[in-house]
Amino acid sequence: MRRKYQLLMIEKIRNNKQLGSIGIFDSGVGGLSILKEIRNLLPHYDYLYLGDNARAPYGTRSFDSVYQYTLEAVTWMFGMGCPLVILACNTASAKALRTIQQKDLAKIASNNRVLGVIRPTTESISQYTKSRHIGILATSGTVKSDSYLIEIARYSPDIQIVQQACPMWVPLIENNEHLSEGGFFFIEKYIRQILLKDDKIDALLLACTHYPLLIPAISSIIPPHIRLISQGTLVAEKLKDYLLRHSDIEQRCSKGNLVRYFTTEDKNDFSEKARLFMDEPVAAQTIQLSRLDNSTGCKD
Ligand code: DGL
Repeated sequence: MRRKYQLLMIEKIRNNKQLGSIGIFDSGVGGLSILKEIRNLLPHYDYLYLGDNARAPYGTRSFDSVYQYTLEAVTWMFGMGCPLVILACNTASAKALRTIQQKDLAKIASNNRVLGVIRPTTESISQYTKSRHIGILATSGTVKSDSYLIEIARYSPDIQIVQQACPMWVPLIENNEHLSEGGFFFIEKYIRQILLKDDKIDALLLACTHYPLLIPAISSIIPPHIRLISQGTLVAEKLKDYLLRHSDIEQRCSKGNLVRYFTTEDKNDFSEKARLFMDEPVAAQTIQLSRLDNSTGCKD
């Protein structure tokens, strides 16, 4: 039964020629920091945001789980008509993007596209450092993947990088504890750790979409010569450029200034948290993602 449903869904995605929203996916609410900047720059498009809050955080999950969950989310978003999905989650971009682009897309929707947030960030990062020493703050999963080291070495091989995993930050934000005294303790802890690793750092990259909510606290800790880089504007600029260069995809993106929000968890809880990021009321809907069998051919 499940297999029949999956085949029907894949058939529906393949035949879809209609206009659709740009999909923005994250493990939780963090990707809203990316959506916000994309909307500021490209307000006329429609957007569909999905947060997999029921299974967040992704940062401490295995490679295979993040890949499987991300593939389920992307398949659902294609089913909702999105011609283009942005993985607004560093962990999903690090662990799932390449396999989905190289193996799954051809099977589920070869005309659609999936993009991540790591490439657009690393392409632009060079302009933020004079000392050529950068610190990367990210989830354990992103740090372990070494994606930032690999990508930065490709575009700016002269830059020295140190990384710091910050496993407590996403749970603090998801539970709205990041402004508490206990929250500040963990913010300070990881910042001190990364600064001890390299005293020449003059830029710190917030390589997790949740972290922009910590900017006021981090700014109060770091020396004034260190720049904090968040990804939202970088990703938005690169998306604008991508749409200019790919008119086939751009023409399939609907333009009605509409944003729809979906979560795999409680919709009221999501809406409440989302308000913190978007600075406006958010009305989310709850959905369930279907597990994909290996037998669909979507997974190797
Ligand atoms: N927001 C995601 C990122 O950018 C990760 C959060 C999580 O651990 O789920 O990496």
